[in-house]
Amino acid sequence: MSTLVVLGTQWGDEGKGKVVDYLAEQADYIVRYQGGNNAGHTLIYENKPFALHLVPSGILFPKKYCLIGNGVVVDPKALKEEIAFLNKKKISVRGRFFISEQAHIILPYHKLIDGILEEGNVKIGTTKKGIGPCYSDKVKRIGIRVVDYLEKNVFLDLLDKNLIEKTPILENGGINIEKLKKEILKDHKELSKFIKPFVADTSLMIEGAIKKNKKVLFESAQGTLLDLDFGTYPYVTSSNPTAGGACPGAGLGPTEINNVLGVVKAYTTRVGEGPFAVELFDKMGDFLREKGGEYGATTGRPRRCGWFDAVVVRHSVRVSGIKHLILTKLDCMEDIKTIKICVAYKYKGRIYKDFPSSRTVQKYAKPVYEEMLGFKGKIKGVTSFKKLPLNAQKYVKRLEQLVGAPIDLISLGRKREETVEVTKNAKWF
Ligand code: IMO
Ligand code: MG
Repeated sequence: MSTLVVLGTQWGDEGKGKVVDYLAEQADYIVRYQGGNNAGHTLIYENKPFALHLVPSGILFPKKYCLIGNGVVVDPKALKEEIAFLNKKKISVRGRFFISEQAHIILPYHKLIDGILEEGNVKIGTTKKGIGPCYSDKVKRIGIRVVDYLEKNVFLDLLDKNLIEKTPILENGGINIEKLKKEILKDHKELSKFIKPFVADTSLMIEGAIKKNKKVLFESAQGTLLDLDFGTYPYVTSSNPTAGGACPGAGLGPTEINNVLGVVKAYTTRVGEGPFAVELFDKMGDFLREKGGEYGATTGRPRRCGWFDAVVVRHSVRVSGIKHLILTKLDCMEDIKTIKICVAYKYKGRIYKDFPSSRTVQKYAKPVYEEMLGFKGKIKGVTSFKKLPLNAQKYVKRLEQLVGAPIDLISLGRKREETVEVTKNAKWF
């Protein structure tokens, strides 16, 4: 048996898409277990970058099975568009792409409510894809699952109940309920037919794969600091991207998970609102944004940038039991004179080595920095760890020490080849 969870250790956008694509070569099944099309996983295909939002990143390999677990929220319209886009690229998904019948469906009112809430007094800076409102319905026990969407009478009944429940907020936002219902019914006719051939009991499929000794990779969306429990609440997404989330999100027990791999960016970014101790408002922030192309793959928003935050990554390693790390975007730190690493936070004279839960401390704490000499010259294109400038090697080793997990690989670009081994022949499966 061989299963691996791959997750983001910061605020998302760590480069999970490339890493999963890299590892998918060794896997038989790639499974998404939470989130929805708020994710944006950028991959290189035929030398051009393109972003996947819902379909697992392993889809580019023709023979891999790609599953959407029950913990994911699925916008059938967005899914149809993504599959059409893949088909246009001659990537066929038939017979190897499946959606859990228990996954919850995002409907147009979820997106509308997401937008209305963002205009209100608790702006989170969401992707406005309807993610939070859909998960809210799941928790309120009024959600519509894929299996419900396919049973017409069940769907119509649930739709009416949901529209009644949501009328006040929608009407307040100037939405015409009758018109909205018509649109949903029209979509339903077309989209239920479209998704039907992809629907399966994916938990059973995973059990079967594990029994046959297949390699199963669980791909998270977002990152630990956007986790509903362990992130910067309330400025988080509405699911659990941490490794434990793979169990309820895909339908297997914790004893079936063999290994956990974290993806970590050589510096830190976040999109949306919320605390971000290491944020840089100066030229260095702009440098990282431009050099790293730090603009959202889903919304195009410029990402907030800062130095590496070891408090955050240590927290991630701990709450997900991460045993291995892959470091991305080290190439984007070429030519910086002095590099800073945040090793602790300071608030009202107290030093915090562990990530604090208090909103006040998260918001007002100042980073305690350690400085290192930067590395000069081109490191993009370097093919072995030993050939990296000495200061770059030292930086990587210092990060490992601070966060408490080994960095096995370093990514120096988007292409699969632009990857350097630190641990020789590291095995994760
Ligand atoms: P990947 O998979 C970065 C952020 C949003 C917002 C918060 C809540 O590319 O790492 P939501 O729409 O999920 O309710 O928004 O979470 N967010 C992401 N940030 N990368 C993502 O995905 C994200 N998905 C959601 O910006 O702050
Ligand atoms: Mg993203």
